[in-house]
Amino acid sequence: MAALRIEEGERADPLVHDPLAQAFIAAAGGGDTPTTAVLPAGASAFLALRTRFFDDAVLAACATGVRQVVLLGAGLDARAFRLDWPPGVRLFEVDLPELFAFKEPVVASAGAVPRAGRIVVPVDMRKDWTGPLTAAGFDGAVPTGWLAEGLLPYLNGAESDRFRSDVTGLSAPGSHLLFDHLHGIASDRPAMQATSTAIRQTAGAQLSTMDDPAAWLAGYGWRARTAHMAGERGDAAAATGCLAEDVVLISPLTAQFRFHGRDEIRPVLETAFEVFRDLRFHTEVGDADTRALFFYAKVGRDEVEEAQLLRLDAAGHIRELTLFGRPLPVVTAVMADLGPRLLRRQGRPGLARVVRLATAPLAAMTRLGERRLVPLADPARARRTRTPR
Ligand SMILES: C[S@@+](CC[C@H](N)C(=O)[O-])C[C@H]1O[C@@H](n2cnc3c(N)ncnc32)[C@H](O)[C@@H]1O
Repeated sequence: MAALRIEEGERADPLVHDPLAQAFIAAAGGGDTPTTAVLPAGASAFLALRTRFFDDAVLAACATGVRQVVLLGAGLDARAFRLDWPPGVRLFEVDLPELFAFKEPVVASAGAVPRAGRIVVPVDMRKDWTGPLTAAGFDGAVPTGWLAEGLLPYLNGAESDRFRSDVTGLSAPGSHLLFDHLHGIASDRPAMQATSTAIRQTAGAQLSTMDDPAAWLAGYGWRARTAHMAGERGDAAAATGCLAEDVVLISPLTAQFRFHGRDEIRPVLETAFEVFRDLRFHTEVGDADTRALFFYAKVGRDEVEEAQLLRLDAAGHIRELTLFGRPLPVVTAVMADLGPRLLRRQGRPGLARVVRLATAPLAAMTRLGERRLVPLADPARARRTRTPR
């Protein structure tokens, strides 16, 4: 982790700057660890994003008034020293005793000064850890910001469930629980296999996975917020980054042509994000190769529901994306709006006008049909006529 954070800190516009990473690496003898030696391409970018995501999230929790923060499985995390904590934050770091036996002398000899009240709690979380945390001064009566970055894959199913009960039991109303986990489809991807094997060997751990963290928390008093960031933020660049180079996009509107390749699809996504607002993913199902995602979005004043059938390549990039939508009047309205926008973007304003003129009557007809004709086919109406008097 420290080695990857050094890599990130050396970039021109780093997401994270870890002032202690160099000292940790030097104390460990420098060079690659068995794990960093086999990390897949993109590992440092992934870690930088994850670290920055949780930096922002834990400070956002503090902005709601939280003044007690617990880093679970803190590892060589230097947040106590590098984040701009509001005054009065007490920050507990929980990890294995052997971790602090290494970390604390390095912190001391670097002369690092924590920017919050820092308290370390050396304990094995597979045993009772709430007792030592409370003995160290943790107060269960005030809201807590829990952050378990990279920890849960190291706990097995039963240990994770105990973690959930323990954390919930110690959480006053207004607490925040931040964590990440490996999805089942990620753990055995070719890109992850060497890393997983190295982690298993060095940490002696069986990496666990969790496919539905929101369901795991259901019934424990937490309100879960899961995010499909690129789509929900309308971020076409990030969404394009999820695509394979030779991706194919199959439109719900036509069987006449398909969009091929990232360069062709990016403007389609940019245009789609102009038309679709307030995307909310509600369901995801599938396996390692095929996923189906469902979301609601606003189109003007209407609500549309879309499904995306994704076929993934070995690296987890989308190689085929098929879109479906309902209800028909909104889908035709989307067609009437999106097609001309896309053509204008392609520098074909004349064709854009033709398509707008040609599709407008269809959109109007389906809307009229929806209002006037479709109610006649309502099964409730048929049931009412069949009901004996
Ligand atoms: C992948 S590291 C993450 C470290 C840090 N949170 C970060 O993201 O940089 C996982 C951490 O969990 C700690 N850990 C694993 N099993 C643990 C256990 N049973 N009790 C306490 N800590 C544990 C490890 O010592 C390690 O520091």
